[in-house]
Formats: sequence, structure tokens, C-alpha cells
Amino acid sequence: MRMVDIIEKKREGHFLSVEEINFVIQGYVQGKIPDYQVSAWLMAIFFQGMTDQESAALTKAMLESGDKIDLSKISGIKVDKHSTGGVGDKTTLILGPLVAACGAKVAKLSGRGLGHTGGTLDKLESIDGCRINLTEEEFINQVNQIGIAVAGQTGEIVPADKLLYALRDVTGTVPSIPLIASSIMSKKLASGADVICLDVKIGDGAFMKTIEDARELSRIMVSIGESFGKNVTAFITDMDQPLGHAIGNRLEVKEAIETLSGNGPEDLVELCTDIASHMIYYAKQAPTLEAAKAMALEKLNNGEALAKFNEFITAQGGALPELSHFIEVKEIYPFKAKKAGFVKQIKALNIGLTSMKLGGGRETKEDVIDPMVGVLLQKKIGEKVSIGDTLAFVYANHPVDSDILSTLEDAFFIVEYQVDKPKIILEVIS
Ligand code: URA
Repeated sequence: MRMVDIIEKKREGHFLSVEEINFVIQGYVQGKIPDYQVSAWLMAIFFQGMTDQESAALTKAMLESGDKIDLSKISGIKVDKHSTGGVGDKTTLILGPLVAACGAKVAKLSGRGLGHTGGTLDKLESIDGCRINLTEEEFINQVNQIGIAVAGQTGEIVPADKLLYALRDVTGTVPSIPLIASSIMSKKLASGADVICLDVKIGDGAFMKTIEDARELSRIMVSIGESFGKNVTAFITDMDQPLGHAIGNRLEVKEAIETLSGNGPEDLVELCTDIASHMIYYAKQAPTLEAAKAMALEKLNNGEALAKFNEFITAQGGALPELSHFIEVKEIYPFKAKKAGFVKQIKALNIGLTSMKLGGGRETKEDVIDPMVGVLLQKKIGEKVSIGDTLAFVYANHPVDSDILSTLEDAFFIVEYQVDKPKIILEVIS
């Protein structure tokens, strides 16, 4: 087989065989095929697309490139979730303990944040003492004992994705739907869960800009999951504004605790309980989706979900301070409205960038983050605003400069007419 023939075949819009796809992925990981040929191949895929069979074959080839987590020592049905990257997205911190409190097994490998989106590991590490570098044995034992563990990746999971993503990043081929689908699904499948819920964000700052693209990505990921015998559900969700009110590591942990105590913001509660209902139902802990949702709401309101969160954080070595002492910063700056009207949009990208510029996120992988800083929204889409109302509090440990203020200024779009509250879940594909 010759790489140039495979590039030309895809360039002309023909289907690639499993053998050809394996040849490319294995050859690239082994260093036998150079970057320039794989770049050309990625660009051909970008323009010509892939069939569902090709996407499944690519996912399998990527999955086989590295280690797989063996969860067979965990009894019961294992559930997992993945978000394509949100601002203010603290759902794992809520969903994990919530579904574990309902009897599902949560064995979750999470990542760090980069750029304007946050990562679950950074949020967990903002809790004093909380360990995310569990050994495989600790990870499995903890799930068997308390139903939940969240850790960073150990070993080499899907090395092909690391190589391909780095190349896609510099060749303009990141936004290819089959490439995104196989990248996400290879990592999810390597993590070993039986039930996978995917949160596909659409809107400003999200990978998917239109509902059509989000639908196609969701459909392909569900189809890939099916071909591996997994139960996959994709939720297409709105990101025309950040999720909930809190953006920033410690602020988000606090909002997660409030949500687990039954006092969460409406959009966050709806998203978490809807995704939870699928996880609980497919983990066979409730007879119907409706019963599963009722169970999730009950656990949020009766303290059991919060108790599971506390158990989970304690098991990972974390110590939670009182909520009244949860955030300590030098300044809480009220960012005020200069215009009256109704909030039409809160650009998630700008709010994420604000948090990053405050020190709450990383521009490069090496950056050290300040867990305390961030943004606490006081108004969301559809709310009425008068001049001088606080739109958001900025939690800062350095003076809030003009760059941060102008990023925030551009985030809020206020109009004179009334605006409806957006739906958080736009479609569910399974
Ligand atoms: N997230 C991933 O893991 N991979 C992509 O290609 C895009 C988003």
C-alpha cells in the first residue's frame, strides 16, 4: 500500500477500506508516514468527508493505537459523559455524584482546560488536597466502594489522537465532523464505559456553530458508538451564553455544591437532570426516563446527591471549606450595565476569555492557574436590565484592567425589545 494512493483516493471522493485507514493510522503513529502526507490526507477528508463506516474504522484504528481502560473489575453498568467544551460547564461535578447517588457507576477520566473553556480536573484541583492522579487500582476500588471516581488519564490513551489533533490544529482541519467524531469517540471508547452521554454545544465559542452541523456530529458519534455495542445519547445544547452563573474554577465548584443542594440555576439544573435521567435509565436504575428524572430531582432536593459529592471529594483527599469562605480574592468588581433593555446574548467565548485573562484559565499548557478568580453572572438571557445594574461580578486578584473590561463589554448584547429565555437542550439524538 502507498500513502499517496490513499490520499488520491480520498481526494477523488472514494471510500477508504478498513485496511487503508489502519495503514495510515498505524504508519503515522509508528513514524513511518510523514506529517506532510497525513496533512494532505486530513485535508482530503475535510473536503470529501467520510461515510459512517469509514468514521467507525478510523475510530477503531485510533482506539487501537494505545491503552484501553479495563473497567471489568467494576460491578454494574458504567456511565460516562463528555462535553464538546463549554464555558461555565461544571456538569461533571454535579452529574457524577448525582447519578452515583442513583446507583449508576461513574468511572470518569477527565481533562484540563485550555483557552476559554475550563476542565473538570482544574475544578477538582481547586479544592484543597483533592487528588486527580489516582492509580488504576485506586480508581477502580473507589468506584466499587462509593460509585464514583474522577481522575486524569494514566498511560497512553489514543496516542493517535494527540498526534492527529496537533496536526489538525496547524493545517486548518480541526472543524471536520468525521475527524471530530472519531477523535472524541476513540477517547470515550478507550475509557471503557457502557453508557455514554455526549453534550454537543452549539453557539459562540463552541466547535459547532449551526444546529445542522451539531446534528450531523451527534448522529455520527451515536452511530460509531452503536458499531461498538455502546449505548450513546447526544444532547445538542445551547451555548449562546455560559452555563449557570459561575465561570472560574472555585466559583464553579461552589455553584455545583449549590446545585447539588437543590439551589442551582435553572439551565444547569435542567441540563444535569435531563442528562442524568438518560444515564440512570440506561444504567437500569429506573424503569422509565420519567422515573429516572424524578429520581434525579429527588436526590438533588433530599441531600443525597450532595452527600455523595462530599463522599467523593473526601475519598480523593479533598477538604471543602464552608461555603461562606469558599472564595477569597482581593477584589470583587461589579461590572455594570451602561444600557437599559433586555439581555439578548452573553458571548460565552468572551466570558471564558475574561476568566482566562484574570488568571483562571491557561493560554498555554504550562500556565499555572489561579483557582479563585472568575466571573459570576448576575443577568442571563431574557432578563431585564436598567442602567447601573450589575451584569456580573468579576473576582480578581489583580486590578481589573481595560482589556478585561472591554472583553466583558463585548460579551453582553442588550436590546430594547423583550427576549425569550432560550431552551438549554435543543435536541436529543440516540
Ligand atoms: N474535542 C476533541 O476531543 N476532539 C476534537 O477533534 C474536537 C473536540
